[in-house]
Amino acid sequence: MNAKPEPAVLPLDVERIRADFPLLSRTVHGKPLIYFDSANTSQKPLSVIEAVDRHYRQHNANVARAVHTLGEEATASYEGARDAIARFINASSRDEVILTSGTTQAINLVAYSYALPRLKPGDAILTTVMEHHANIVPWQLVAERTGATVKAAPIDANGDLILERFFEMLTPEVKLACVGHVSNVLGTVNPIREIARECRKRGIPLLVDGSQAAPHRRIDVQALGCDFYAITGHKMLAPTGTGALWARREHLMAMPPFFGGGEMIREVRFEGTVFADPPHRFEAGTPNIAGFAGMAAAIGYIEDLGYDRLKAYEQDLLAYATSAVENLPGVRIFGRAKEKEPVISFLIEGAHANDMATLLDLQGVAVRSGHHCAHPLMHFFGVPATLRASLAFYNTKAEVDGFIEAIGKVRKLLL
Ligand SMILES: Cc1ncc(COP(=O)(O)O)c(C=O)c1O
Repeated sequence: MNAKPEPAVLPLDVERIRADFPLLSRTVHGKPLIYFDSANTSQKPLSVIEAVDRHYRQHNANVARAVHTLGEEATASYEGARDAIARFINASSRDEVILTSGTTQAINLVAYSYALPRLKPGDAILTTVMEHHANIVPWQLVAERTGATVKAAPIDANGDLILERFFEMLTPEVKLACVGHVSNVLGTVNPIREIARECRKRGIPLLVDGSQAAPHRRIDVQALGCDFYAITGHKMLAPTGTGALWARREHLMAMPPFFGGGEMIREVRFEGTVFADPPHRFEAGTPNIAGFAGMAAAIGYIEDLGYDRLKAYEQDLLAYATSAVENLPGVRIFGRAKEKEPVISFLIEGAHANDMATLLDLQGVAVRSGHHCAHPLMHFFGVPATLRASLAFYNTKAEVDGFIEAIGKVRKLLL
């Protein structure tokens, strides 16, 4: 499928964009909201909210079951979302796109349908120290059941993956490699094409966790050369409970279903059930139909904006915010990778991350504090938690200034 061409690179009109996001104009504790937690979940534009609303007002019915008009409309909308996602990530076929509740379900699907039946004692799964728990724990669970092990490739002090070590660790026992495209804590962008090339040379399939990549950069699964790619809708403007797994057709054809139930079968008999072909084989039960109407709208919003424009704006904002945070007294920034998406993790000497986040909230600033579902990464840096400011194209330099001012006030209270 051909990806939609990028519009010409025009400067992004952030005030016009902010008007599309109703939540951004609210106040919190009497202060204008500064939402710097988009890596956790993004805010939603009106077109997404309206798509969900429209579904329930006009088209609500179950999918692939009813022949009545509403059933057909709901099915067309749901299958239309699959088409939109296939185009968005440049899948060669819509049948390679499984609609899921998010990345967590997508990775667990690969763990239980692909890895579990194949792994045996002595095998290994290779991942990295910077992964989200969603790209660690499912592998540990299947490793435990099969006698396999999970190995993690190291990173350097800047938060870049040590590629030579990763490649050295791609030994014959490794049956699957699992890497995040972009780190949710450090913003590090991993060189997926290069990693995929090395995995392919050794015949090792590669799964990529694209949760933090899709909100910021164009994804082309064919050009990346991986085997599995997972995205989660709610971090890229879509409703919660939406996402997708892309997988090469040959893998999907060889995978048994993960969940059993309605809509994933061709014929059910007590002597034996024949499963549907992918993608429906992996979509048992009633899906998040309204959510996927919203996800299609989210993709439309991003495509209209264009990744080139979005990226130019976000990278400029990241540079501005990084230099502002760097100038804070007693600051330690985690993550100085060669290529980064707009995430800044940091600590202020003497101040606990959770205390800072709580007091920042009183100033109207939403940032995340804690381990960010990345315990091994926290252990690597020797800290229990960080503060994370994660930005999006709807944030502004004025908000960065407000954030820095709020930190100044919080510092006075804490230190
Ligand atoms: C890198 C990464 N992987 C996986 C996930 C899990 O995504 P979800 O909870 O939407 O399934 C997240 C969410 O924080 C993430 O940042």
